[in-house]
Amino acid sequence: MPGRLRVRRLRRVHHEAEETACPTLPTPAENESVMTAPSDEAMIGSTTDNGAPAPSDRNSLTLGADGPILLHDVHFLNQMAHFNRERVPERNVHAKGSGAFGELETTEDVSAYTKAALFQPGVRTEMLARFSTVAGEQGSPDTWRDPRGFSLKFYTSEGNYDLVGNNTPVFFVRDTMKFPHFIRSQKRRGGSGLRDNNMQWDFWSLNPESAHQVTYLMGDRGIPKSYRHMNGYGSHTYLWINAAGQKHWVKYHFHSDQGVEGLTDADASRIAGEDADFHRRDLYDSIGKGDFPSWTLSIQAMPYEDARAYRINPFDLTKVWPHADYPLVKVGTMTLNRNPENFFAQIEQAAFEPSALVPGIGFSPDKMLLGRAFAYADTHRHRIGPNYLQLPVNRPKVEMNTYTQDGPMAFEHRGDDPVYAPNSFGRGYADNVGPDEAGWRPTGRWCARPTRCARTTTTSHRPARWSATCGPKRSARRSSRPSLGICLPASRATCSTGPSSTGATSTPTPASGSRRRSGRRPRATPPVGSPRARRPTLPTRSSRPTHTRATD
Ligand code: HEM
Repeated sequence: MPGRLRVRRLRRVHHEAEETACPTLPTPAENESVMTAPSDEAMIGSTTDNGAPAPSDRNSLTLGADGPILLHDVHFLNQMAHFNRERVPERNVHAKGSGAFGELETTEDVSAYTKAALFQPGVRTEMLARFSTVAGEQGSPDTWRDPRGFSLKFYTSEGNYDLVGNNTPVFFVRDTMKFPHFIRSQKRRGGSGLRDNNMQWDFWSLNPESAHQVTYLMGDRGIPKSYRHMNGYGSHTYLWINAAGQKHWVKYHFHSDQGVEGLTDADASRIAGEDADFHRRDLYDSIGKGDFPSWTLSIQAMPYEDARAYRINPFDLTKVWPHADYPLVKVGTMTLNRNPENFFAQIEQAAFEPSALVPGIGFSPDKMLLGRAFAYADTHRHRIGPNYLQLPVNRPKVEMNTYTQDGPMAFEHRGDDPVYAPNSFGRGYADNVGPDEAGWRPTGRWCARPTRCARTTTTSHRPARWSATCGPKRSARRSSRPSLGICLPASRATCSTGPSSTGATSTPTPASGSRRRSGRRPRATPPVGSPRARRPTLPTRSSRPTHTRATD
C-alpha cells in the first residue's frame, strides 16, 4: 500500500495525475503541485541526497491529505535531519563576522628582514580576510562598541600563513591565562544571561594593564564607521628571519587606504536598531560594485638583540613600540576584490589560526601569542571537525604530504602510500635536527619592575642582574649569545612574570641567592584577598601612559 501511495504521489507531482477524490489520498487541489508552482523551476525538478530525482520539495508523503507523514518518505527525512545539523557551533569569540577574498602585493623589498615567499618583492598572494566583533553572538549588531577582529589567511606558495589580529595594536591582558576570564566578563552573566557593564568594568579595573586597550575602545576608534575604515594590526610581536638567518622582531600595521573613521555612540546605537548587518552590508556592497577596499601593509622591525635592552618589554601585548624608536617600513598593499560565493562554506567555516606560519616567520616570547598557538586549531577541531583543513577555504594551495590521516569526513587521502615515518617505500618525511631556525633563546623573564632594574644597572637601557632563582644557568649567563630581554629586579625575590594587578602572583619560592644579592629580606607574597594583595601595581616606567600611548 505505501508503495502505491508513493507512485501515485510522484505521478501527481509530474502533472500526470488523473486521480479522483480518494478518502486516503489528497487531491491535487489540496496540495502544492506543479499546477500551483510559481515557475518553470518546478518542471526542472531537484534531486535527493543520493542524486536521484526528488519526489517533491513542497509535499511530504502522507496517508491522505490530512493523514500522518509516512516514515519511509526518505527525501523528507533527509531534509529534516540535515536541517537539524545546518549550524556548526558559533565561534566562542568573534562569532559575528564578515569576509572577502583578495590579494596581497608585496611592492617593496623587505628581504633583508624575511625570506618568507609572500614578502618577496613583486609577489602577489591570494588571501582571505574576516572582520568581526568580539563579544557579540552571530546575530548581534555590527555597530556595538567592541574591538574588531582582523583575520587574514594568505595562501602562499609555502603553505598557508594566518595573521589573526585586531583593529588595535594592543590587547587588554598580557597573559593567556587571563583570556578566558576576560572574555567571560565581556559576554553574559551566568544567572540572567544578560551582558553587564559592571562585570566588564570589574574585570578591567582589577586588571589595570587593560587601561591602554580600554582607552582605545572608549575613544573615537571604538566603533569603526565600517570595516573598510579601520586599521588592522598583527598586535603581537613576531619573529622574521631572512635568508642569511638574521632575525628581527616585527609588528604588523595595515593602514586603511579609505582612512580611519568612527561612528558616534548615538549613530551606532541608531544603526544597531535599523540594520544589525550594517558593516557586513557595506563590505559586500562595496566589493560588489567594484569599490575595492585596500590597506597599506607596513612593519616595525626591531633587531633581535635590541630586545634585551629596550626600555619597553617588546613582548608585552599591552604596549606599542613608539614609531620614533622603530619607524614604519612599507611592505605592500592588501586589496579585497572578491565577495564570497557562499557565506557559510567560505566565511563561517573559515578557520584562522596564529599557529599557521611559513618559513621566515616565527613566534616571539609573547605569552599571549604562545597561548594562541594552541587555542585556535583546538577550537576548529571542535567547531568544524578534525578535518577542517581539507575544506576548500582552509586548504593550503600547495601539494600536501601530511601524516595526519583519516578521522571524520576525511576527504583527501594518500591511497596506499606508507602511513608511517620513517619508511623505505618512497614517501618523504621531515628529518631536521638541531636548533629551530625560528627559535629564540629564553634566558630569563621580563622585569616585573623595570625601574628597579634600571637602578641596578649602569645605564637604564641595559638589562639588570639575573636572579639566581629565575635567571639562566651560570653557563648560559656567560654565553656570548644574546639573551632576550629580560631582566629581573635583583631587589625582588619573587619571580613575577610581569606587573600583576593583585600583587598575588603564583611565584616560585624565593631562593637564597636572590636575597643575598639584594641584601634585603624579600617581602612575602601576600595572600589572595588581603588588602595588600588587592592593591594594584603602581605604574612603572614602562607602563606609564607616555610609553603606552598609541603611536600606530
Ligand atoms: C591569548 C589568548 C587568546 C585565546 C585563547 C583566543 C582564543 C580564540 C578562540 C577560541 C577563537 C575562536 C576561533 C574560531 O572558533 O574560529 C578566537 C577568535 C579570534 N581571536 Fe582570539 N584568542 C586569544 C587572544 C586574541 C588576541 C590577542 C587577538 C588579537 C590580537 C585575537 C583575535 C582573534 C580574532 C580576530 C578571532 C576571529 C578569527 C576569525 O575571524 O575566525 N585573539 N580566539
